[in-house]
Amino acid sequence: MAIHIDEKNRIFTLHTLRTTYQMKVDNTGVLLHTYYGARTDDGDLSQLIYHMDRGFSGNPYEKGKTDKGYSLDVLPQEYSCFGTGDYRVTALRVRNTDGSRAADLRYQRHEVRPGKYALEGLPAVHADQQEAETLVVWLRDPYTGMEAELLFGVLPALDVITRAVKITNEGQTPVVLEKAASLSIDWQYGDFDWVTFHGRHCGERNLQRQPVGHGIQSIGSVRGTSSHHYNPFSILCAPGANEEQGDCYSFSFVYSGEFAMEVEKDQIGQTRLVCGIHPDDFGWNLAPGESFQTPEVILSYSGAGFGLLSRNLHRTIRDHICRGKWAGQRRPVLLNSWEGTYFDFTGDKLVAMAQEAAQLGVELFVLDDGWFGKRDDDHSGLGDWFPNEQKLGCSLPELVRRITDTGLLFGLWFEPEGISEDSDLYRAHPDWAVQIEGRRPNLSRDQLILDVSRTDVQDYLIERMCTILDSAPISYIKWDMNRSICDKFSHQLDAAHQGQFSHRYVLGLYRILETLCQRYPDLLIEGCSGGGGRFDTGMLYYCPQIWCSDNSDAISRLDIQYGTSFGYPGCTMGAHVSAVPNHQTGRVTPLATRAAVAMAGTFGYELDLAALSDAEKEAIRRQIDTFQASSQLLQQGDYYRLRAPGTGCAVWENVDAAGTEALVTAVYSHVVCNGGLIRVKVHGLRPEGQYRVHLLKEDETADWSRFEFAQDRFLSGAALEHAGVVIPPAWTDYQAWQLHITLCEKD
Ligand code: GLA
Repeated sequence: MAIHIDEKNRIFTLHTLRTTYQMKVDNTGVLLHTYYGARTDDGDLSQLIYHMDRGFSGNPYEKGKTDKGYSLDVLPQEYSCFGTGDYRVTALRVRNTDGSRAADLRYQRHEVRPGKYALEGLPAVHADQQEAETLVVWLRDPYTGMEAELLFGVLPALDVITRAVKITNEGQTPVVLEKAASLSIDWQYGDFDWVTFHGRHCGERNLQRQPVGHGIQSIGSVRGTSSHHYNPFSILCAPGANEEQGDCYSFSFVYSGEFAMEVEKDQIGQTRLVCGIHPDDFGWNLAPGESFQTPEVILSYSGAGFGLLSRNLHRTIRDHICRGKWAGQRRPVLLNSWEGTYFDFTGDKLVAMAQEAAQLGVELFVLDDGWFGKRDDDHSGLGDWFPNEQKLGCSLPELVRRITDTGLLFGLWFEPEGISEDSDLYRAHPDWAVQIEGRRPNLSRDQLILDVSRTDVQDYLIERMCTILDSAPISYIKWDMNRSICDKFSHQLDAAHQGQFSHRYVLGLYRILETLCQRYPDLLIEGCSGGGGRFDTGMLYYCPQIWCSDNSDAISRLDIQYGTSFGYPGCTMGAHVSAVPNHQTGRVTPLATRAAVAMAGTFGYELDLAALSDAEKEAIRRQIDTFQASSQLLQQGDYYRLRAPGTGCAVWENVDAAGTEALVTAVYSHVVCNGGLIRVKVHGLRPEGQYRVHLLKEDETADWSRFEFAQDRFLSGAALEHAGVVIPPAWTDYQAWQLHITLCEKD
């Protein structure tokens, strides 16, 4: 049993394969958090809590006269509240009818359910009945009747615990939730580093690691989306933790809107992390009887460093967040039209691109921006989801027929949430755009955003998209979103309810996506927001892949994909081979390097194939063969970060679950003349197995005749794991090597 309950002592212990999470109801009814870490037994771990008078840390009334050592200000709790004596960063802040801000939650009851709970209208981890268990604990404020239903999902095989909270106003008078986080968790002991992932457009998910000091450190987004700027994922770890050892805890917020993750080290060195919807733009009115459901947070713990932690999360996202036909399947190798043509194309040009692509082994042609309305640049047309037949030279169904006749699948770009002022939609429905009456709105890419919190807007988008999807065999859509939201205001909400806008927007987005997923179960949806501006676990519930960054330069991608890999598997990372000089950085990299880097993601192309030489086209044919032949390990296998990109040579490994085949990829971002050799250890192989190590000779700039590493080598799995292999040296920047390691005699 994953959930063990000691009814007498009111102790709840959640076990996964390698972890234990425990909480206990104390004699005042407070739900204490007693432990999270490596697996133990069901014993009472509240012995770790020591009560002493901390001075200026007050006591609940029932304890105040007899026990000055009992204070919510220092006790580790499951769901912390503002205003009743816990002065740390807290999870729940309310405004009661009388204007007071106090909330104080005490234990009511609990229940264990088979399987994993689901959340209405929100993405969440899914699992078969036998793969998970759910614990529900109800807490209640005895004064106001506010009730918190704490949900805990336990997925033992994955070392994952999920949390979410439903707040219900069981009182007689209305309240406003000013902050309703999904998670609050305390550590009484230990120093931590906080690993977060910050970025910008064209430079997402850079790793930052800093010690947790006194005070509050926070990351978050008030941009309407999860953002390029901070990813809703972080890790708290022991100061010495690295890829292979040390305690690490991860927090993946399953949400695509505004979020805050806050970490505080308190007066006595205890650490608290709170994660949930960002409170700045949030205010949720609850009339008597009404409820608010928070999004979910996925927690995982690894006692063996970041590598194991990431592999736990990769499996979780791949198998228990992503859904639908494509979740567990190799994604089609695609050619996207954007960097090849931008807005400048005709139907004939697109068909010619598809014909060329089909000959090279590409499987899916994606028509990006510019096919609808009046859209020859980014100043107009968004919202008018009607094919521009004049530009295409034919109807959309006819274009799709011509392209699918080449043997390719067809995919189409949408930016459903965008609206241009210069569009028929805006002229007809100016009130559908997000803006505040009487105030000129903030423009970004010369566009506004549709008020997706409105059901009529959602219905319009559903009708438009379904009409187009029903008109032709469209296998894929790219769902883009190209600005941060500002001037937040909805004409459909009264003044008292404007605080609901941002969350209602996300719920509206999810409603449209869920409708598409249900109606077109075979449709592959790729998420996008100017690249990776909404790369989060929430979107992955609907879109099993997300365009990782608008920066397609292979060397920039080393950092972007490295940072992304901490929380997300490669099969979710949209990655394409693009032209050189690269359109974002001007960098010229070998074609082989661009392919090696894109293979760490979903793999595709985004360039004008007609501009390539015959030799380059031949190389592309081989790249697609390599990707397809190794897709099992690349997209479903285990992933190891062997060397970080900041070292001048990034190295990573993909290995299949059975340990029969691995691909080690090394990319030099900075060659060192006459430098030392790089040795890496290869993981996940069978110790006794004999393996062939074969260097894929793809680099078009290499002189293989003088290259001793060109010879195959034969080594045991144990030798590869402990002694390792040498990465061939590079003689120029940006060279990439791929070592293909195969078991000589597969069982
Ligand atoms: C965004 C996307 C790009 C491309 C353009 C089209 O920037 O990230 O991949 O689709 O929009 O306008």
